[in-house]
Amino acid sequence: MKTEIIDVSDGGIEGIDKAAALLKQNELVAFPTETVYGIGACGLSEEAVSKIFTAKGRPSDNPLILHIADMNDLEKITKNIKDYALKLMDKFWPGPITFVLERTEIVPLSVCAGLDTVAVRFPSNEISMKLIRAAGFPIAAPSANTSGKPSPTDAKAVYEDLNGKIPLILDGGETEVGLESTVVLVTGDYPIVLRHGKVTIEELREIMPDTEDSQPYEPNDDFVPLSPGQKYRHYAPKAEMYAFKGKFNDISNRILLEEAKYELQNKKVGILCFDETRDRYTSENVLSVGSYFNKEEVSHNLFSVLREFDRLGVDVILSETMDERGLGKAIMNRLTKACGGNIISV
Ligand code: TXA
Ligand code: MG
Repeated sequence: MKTEIIDVSDGGIEGIDKAAALLKQNELVAFPTETVYGIGACGLSEEAVSKIFTAKGRPSDNPLILHIADMNDLEKITKNIKDYALKLMDKFWPGPITFVLERTEIVPLSVCAGLDTVAVRFPSNEISMKLIRAAGFPIAAPSANTSGKPSPTDAKAVYEDLNGKIPLILDGGETEVGLESTVVLVTGDYPIVLRHGKVTIEELREIMPDTEDSQPYEPNDDFVPLSPGQKYRHYAPKAEMYAFKGKFNDISNRILLEEAKYELQNKKVGILCFDETRDRYTSENVLSVGSYFNKEEVSHNLFSVLREFDRLGVDVILSETMDERGLGKAIMNRLTKACGGNIISV
């Protein structure tokens, strides 16, 4: 299959019409949202949705998000919505947050992986909204990467993973947020954050003070995650990756030592740092994710930097870390998963 890329950064009605027509024929289309690129299919068709799992190599027990662009569509796919959930939607939608709700019968079993719930998001990105409205049905869309890889934040990254597997990519430039949406379970008496993202737990607590953080992933057989996605290794670049935690100076000193060690073994080393520490490193493959003090910038750049290390072909990535306040929580969650839990205190 040939994969076409259509530039829609100018609002691109033609691209959107073509994408909507493909979706109506149960074909797949990758498109930008404000978080990351999604690989979309008709969210009400079992046949269309099954193609997503094949293209991504995604385990079938990991459910998908349905994207809507009209609050009226919520009634068709969900039921028994709690008042507090409506309050949160009112505050944060359209935007980078997904709510897990009780589902109706019309939701295909493969979308919700057989669960009684369905994840729903109303994205704020103009292209996403236009596409959902042109299609006329909710669009099921996971991040448009091969399962396990960093989520794509531009069309080039989507193309690297899905070339030949889908007919069309809508290119809307770099995504704004750069990390996937916050996922919140809202079927119980209080909200539970299942995945951290741009909307922080602090912001949720301003509306719902009893918002809880879900149990973090524990790699043992007894662990039953509230969200199937919690149990999978994610965002992983090809290289081995280690992240170092501690005082600013200690982190860079340790990274310099480790770098020397790996170079003795003839390994190509990449260093992930911040603008403020960039000058401490002199080797070739040093990439900054932005200013330590600008978490929006760091989240915007993180996945594209991880992919850039893959393109550079490094064997080992040595990474700095940041504090977990606010958006730092989501950033450190992705970084921790990217290095498969290899976090070293210095
Ligand atoms: O920002 C985003 O959320 C992007 C864009 C494309 O919208 N999408 C995305 O989808 O990241 P995906 O499939 O990569 O992640 C969806 C997450 C997974 O961790 C999945 O396990 C969880 O949401 N999820 C989906 N349905 C669920 C459900 N019914 N109950 C619990 N967790 C659910
Ligand atoms: Mg994903």
